[in-house]
Amino acid sequence: MVAVVGASGSGKSSMLAVAGAMRQPDSGRIHVGGISLTDAAASKRCHLRHDLVGFVFQGSNLLASLTALEQLELVGRIGRAPRAATRRKALALLGEVGLAAKAERRPGQLSGGERQRVGIARALMADPAVLLVDEPTSALDHQRAIDIVGLLVEETHRHQIATLMVTHDRSLAGLADRVIEMRDGRLAPAAVPER
Ligand SMILES: Nc1ncnc2c1ncn2[C@@H]1O[C@H](COP(=O)(O)OP(=O)(O)OP(=O)(O)O)[C@@H](O)[C@H]1O
Ligand SMILES: [Mg+2]
Repeated sequence: MVAVVGASGSGKSSMLAVAGAMRQPDSGRIHVGGISLTDAAASKRCHLRHDLVGFVFQGSNLLASLTALEQLELVGRIGRAPRAATRRKALALLGEVGLAAKAERRPGQLSGGERQRVGIARALMADPAVLLVDEPTSALDHQRAIDIVGLLVEETHRHQIATLMVTHDRSLAGLADRVIEMRDGRLAPAAVPER
């Protein structure tokens, strides 16, 4: 679990966009699990992104008309996974993020923190190798933010994935295993003590 800190405009979101093959870099290559995302054709890149990368967004980006369970099942459907297995997995993930009892709720019936939990569970549905998380807590109060980052650390370790989380808040960054800092588009050692 790596936290990325840095001033506004330093390039944190750009790095995540490039790391997740949402955007092609001007130079350099992106490898995930030994597979080069940058050398793949656009259509292949789309599949690789689905198979390898999970995204958690600032505003959770849930679909308003779908229940928590349906948001996760949609990922299974896009990946053409069998329906029953998809449902089992979705329910298990909702349990892991503490929402077993709220699987049938739509985003409008959930709190901000609960919506982020659904977003995290959804990002884990396709068994990603990498989880890319951009400012997941900016809409939450401090305690809720600590809970969400704690959950991300827990899920990262449980699923043995690599998580890159951007945050403005250095006290939240300190909950990660490593902290790196973006300065003018370059990675630098972080000015916060690493654990
Ligand atoms: N599509 C784009 N085209 C041109 N420049 C862009 C584009 N997206 C971002 N930039 C610029 O690249 C730089 C880095 O932007 P980026 O969004 O990665 O910063 P950030 O570190 O995520 O900032 P914040 O903390 O405010 O979210 C900024 O100067 C921004 O204006
Ligand atoms: Mg940003």
